[in-house]
Parts: sequence; structure tokens; C-alpha cells
Amino acid sequence: MKTTNILIVIYICTLSLSTFGGEFDNGAKIYSYSCVLCHGNKGMGDGYLPMKIKDYPSTNLFENIKSKDRENLIKVISQGFLYKDVDAYMPPWKDELSKREIADLADFIIYLRTDTLPAINLLEQYLNKIKRSVRIGELIFQTRCILCHGKQGRGDGRLSKIIKSPPPANLTISQLPTESMKAIISYGGQNVGRSSKMPPWGDFLTDSEIQALIDYVKTLRE
Ligand code: HEC
Ligand code: HEC
Repeated sequence: MKTTNILIVIYICTLSLSTFGGEFDNGAKIYSYSCVLCHGNKGMGDGYLPMKIKDYPSTNLFENIKSKDRENLIKVISQGFLYKDVDAYMPPWKDELSKREIADLADFIIYLRTDTLPAINLLEQYLNKIKRSVRIGELIFQTRCILCHGKQGRGDGRLSKIIKSPPPANLTISQLPTESMKAIISYGGQNVGRSSKMPPWGDFLTDSEIQALIDYVKTLRE
């Protein structure tokens, strides 16, 4: 190969590296799971909660900016309302996400603010993945879970007549954070100090199927 050809190949490789598998992937992925509900699909504050609740503070990440630089972003995300004058509706994430994940989120928000269009496109890819995942989760839920938890997840499945104290959980009012939900679904109730009537599923389902269930169960919440 001629040197110019090699150079072109190298150039194309770095180009595709910077578009896919890029440094912002992880931040976009976590944002799609944990932040969209309040900050919206584009970070413009049009999440589900702000639209539903009256007088909800603005969650637009482009306006009313309290956290300009990376360092402040990391503080706001880790400490939420515990940090300075941040509103009570912004949860702290330090117990649910690692330092690395919080730094990735901060980088993604900076990317969103400076290079908005590609950032929104990247986010959309992850949101589409979740939509697919929710459909798979719904299928598994219907075959494995409704017997106890009921069609809508209200805890009123057929076996709820037999399983009492505690009955199958009402998943529409469940507040379990993602990690705890993953634990009880994978290892079962008994292994996490809850009822043995909630069976473990880790041996029957793959990690991505369990993730799909979690995505779906979250959509049942009211
Ligand atoms: C339950 C709703 C809710 C969720 C979920 C949520 N936020 Fe927020 N967030 C808010 C609200 C409300 C504010 C505005 C706080 C204020 O103005 O004092 C805010 C503010 C922020 C700010 C400060 C913006 C600025 O510069 O002023 C950042 C950064 C932020 N959120 C990042 C995140 C990230 C990252 C996630 C996901 C891990 C997330 N938030 C999840 C409600 C939420
Ligand atoms: C044989 C009945 C039964 C089946 C089948 C069942 N569960 Fe459960 N589940 C329970 C019971 C009982 C509890 C309550 C445990 C407790 O409170 O100690 C529970 C609790 C849970 C919780 C905890 C909710 C919370 O907020 O505490 C989740 C999440 C859950 N189940 C998800 C599932 C999923 C997903 C499936 C299907 C893969 C499933 N369950 C299948 C009986 C069942």
C-alpha cells in the first residue's frame, strides 16, 4: 500500500472511532436510563415529571445554568439538592452511580451543551434501545410474572389469593431503585432479606432479559 493510502485508512479509522464507541457513549446511556424522566429526551426540560407536576422547577439543562464547569456538574449530580441552592426535586446520585459514571454524565452534559445535535442523536440511539428492551420485558413479564403480580403489576395476580403476608408487591407503587430491583429479580426475595415467595430468576434469564424486565417494570409505575 502507498503511504497516502495508509494515511487515508488511518484517517477513516479514527473518524469512525470518534463517531461510534466514542467517549460520550456511557454518559448518554446512563442519561437515557436515569435522567430523561425529568430532563427530557433532549435535555430541554421536557421530561415526564415536569410536564405532569404543576410549578415544577425548570429542568432545562441549557438555561438557568447553575453548573457551568465539569467540577460543578459532578458536584450537582453527586449531591443533588444537598448541594448549594439546588432544588429539592433534583435527587443525589452518589449512592446509585459510581464516580466514573457521574464523571461520564458530566462529560455528556458538556457535550450536549457544546455539540448539541450529535449529542441528541447519540441519546436517541439509546432511547430506541430502551424502547426495544421494554417490548421484550413486557413479553417476559406476561409469561413469568403476572401469575403473582397481575397483568398491570398491581399485585393482584391469581396467586395473590394464596400468597399473603406479604402479598406479591404492587409494582405500580414500588419505589425500588434499579440496583435493588435487579437484586430481588436475579436472586429472589429470600436472598435479599425479603419473602421467599418472590422467586429468583437469575438462572433462567440472561442479564439483558433482566434489564428488559426492569425497563418494563419501571413503565408500570404510576
Ligand atoms: C426527579 C427529577 C430529576 C431527575 C431524575 C434528575 N434531575 Fe437533574 N435536576 C432536576 C431539577 C428539578 C433540577 C433544577 C434544580 C434547580 O434549578 O435548583 C435539576 C438540575 C440538574 C442539574 C443542574 C443544571 C444547572 O446547571 O443548573 C444537572 C447538571 C442535573 N440536574 C443533572 C442530572 C443528571 C445527570 C441526572 C441523571 C443521573 C438527573 N439530573 C436526574 C430534577 C431531576
Ligand atoms: C410466585 C409469585 C411471584 C412471582 C411468579 C413473581 N413474584 Fe415478584 N414478588 C412476589 C412477592 C411475594 C413479592 C414481595 C416480597 C416481599 O415484600 O418480601 C415480590 C416482590 C417483587 C419485587 C419487589 C418490589 C418492591 O418494591 O419491593 C419486584 C421488583 C418483583 N417482585 C418483580 C418480579 C418480576 C419481574 C417477576 C417475573 C420475572 C416476578 N416478580 C415474579 C411474588 C412473585
